[in-house]
Amino acid sequence: EDPEPQAAFDATIARRDRIEPRDWMPDAYRKTLVRQIAQHAHSEIIGMQPEGAWIGSAPSLRRKAILLAKVQDEAGHGLYLYAACETLGVSRAELTDLLLAGRQKYSSIFNYPTPSYADVGTIGWLVDGAAICNQVPLCRTSYGPYGRAMIRICKEESFHQRQGYELLMTMMRGTEAQRAMVQESVNRFWWPVLMMFGPPDVQSPNSARSMAWGIKRNSNDELRQKFVDMTVPQADALGVTLPDPDLRWNEERGQHDFGEPDWEEFAAVVRGDGPCNAQRLRHRQAAHDDGAWVREAATAFAARAGAR
Ligand code: ACO
Repeated sequence: EDPEPQAAFDATIARRDRIEPRDWMPDAYRKTLVRQIAQHAHSEIIGMQPEGAWIGSAPSLRRKAILLAKVQDEAGHGLYLYAACETLGVSRAELTDLLLAGRQKYSSIFNYPTPSYADVGTIGWLVDGAAICNQVPLCRTSYGPYGRAMIRICKEESFHQRQGYELLMTMMRGTEAQRAMVQESVNRFWWPVLMMFGPPDVQSPNSARSMAWGIKRNSNDELRQKFVDMTVPQADALGVTLPDPDLRWNEERGQHDFGEPDWEEFAAVVRGDGPCNAQRLRHRQAAHDDGAWVREAATAFAARAGAR
């Protein structure tokens, strides 16, 4: 193999500059990007379900409009990410098939149910908060189209996070029953949210290589720590308790100590055995089937427009 393109690639990565679609890249770099970006895109699309379930029963027109806009944003994020992935030579149709066949993953967090309306707020505050923590560094990822997609996504995620926090703040100013709803929701989501960052660094098979390639800029544990440190004062301001008896400020480290998530539960959810995995994929498959006529019509229209 010609050593020159590899050297050019290595130099670009070393300069922390960007690799663009037409540049030469190692096969494994391309594969890793497809894996991560596809997984990210699928997460956005599957992530529409847990909150989408509340659109029909949001408690006011204002809350309904906010939630609708937010869930539509997630669809948009999925589309930017599928488009970024297509620059690597795979089609969105192929990626969707891989998801539906269970051969590509999506974030574990979306396999948890949303039985309470407070979950809409908690997802905005904690799930989107964790997503921002993980995704802001990805704006500087080494692959151009992915990094550029992340910039816009992060801006929208910040709005999502604030709307969630504002919703919870409103409920906390309400009745005793509303405050209890918020606490119950936070109790259910806290540990699964910490799992979003992925396995501990020592058990993360992809991290070292992805960081050497500049795809990931921080390790899973670094981002998890950052998220905890960022969230504790927000929980205080809100007046909720984070359900971790080991959570405390460590003066020496200048960071919080916190407990270990249940990694067996994480493994089960990633394997497909979480509370809602089957339901999420069934719903996605049904939506895909229902949308077949739209894809057919769009393809026929594009072919005719092309012929003209
Ligand atoms: N849910 C499901 N699978 C996960 C999760 C998770 N929360 N965390 C890690 N995994 C999987 C990895 O994909 C990997 O499996 P694979 O090799 O089959 O892909 C395996 O567990 C081992 O993990 P790592 O070696 O740590 O994998 P990686 O280096 O890819 O790091 C991470 C995982 C941090 C999720 C990374 O891929 C990432 O930053 N992705 C972009 C962000 C993203 O996908 N966010 C989606 C949720 S946020 C939202 O959409 C609102």
